[in-house]
Amino acid sequence: MFDTMTVTKAAGALIGSLLFLLLMNWAASAIYTVGTESHDGEMVQAYSIPVEDAGGEAEAAEEGPDFATVMASADAAAGEKVFGKCKACHKLDGTDGVGPHLNGVIGRAVASIGGFSYSDGMVAHGGDWTPEALQEFLADPKGVVKGTKMAFAGLKKIEDRANLIAYLESQP
Ligand code: HEC
Repeated sequence: MFDTMTVTKAAGALIGSLLFLLLMNWAASAIYTVGTESHDGEMVQAYSIPVEDAGGEAEAAEEGPDFATVMASADAAAGEKVFGKCKACHKLDGTDGVGPHLNGVIGRAVASIGGFSYSDGMVAHGGDWTPEALQEFLADPKGVVKGTKMAFAGLKKIEDRANLIAYLESQP
């Protein structure tokens, strides 16, 4: 049977080891924590290691120069040819066809042509047709604007999108 002394020893040993763990933990964090604590108690990183965005397959396919880079050397004349793919539905003379007119579309609010009956998806998309927003939409119309009634598969080549946007910028 346990006598008081055994119980005391056991409890002592237990408390002792807990204390030891606590101390080790404290010591370890003091040694291994890198950085300094800012005034609001948040850790400020002493250095950060750049980590490549793991990315999905879609991103892997997009590898190469980013849009702004391609846009910087876009060719409006080449874009006029690309616009041939839009002509069946879009005009540049201020009148609407199957799709709304696209003269002045750069910087125009999305779904803003009065009298044109847009899909709910396009209305919900919102924002302005900045070159960036437009290139994203044209890459994958149905993926970017869910429920759009624009029956167009998209322009896979980033150069085509940039050239086309340069052309549209020249069509006020
Ligand atoms: C088969 C017809 C068709 C083709 C081809 C087509 N579009 Fe469209 N487009 C539409 C329709 C219809 C809409 C309205 C979509 C909606 O409301 O969802 C639209 C909408 C748009 C809008 C939004 C306009 C606004 O006022 O918000 C842009 C920008 C646009 N198209 C650009 C293009 C470009 C650039 C091309 C060629 C690369 C193209 N489209 C090819 C039919 C077409």
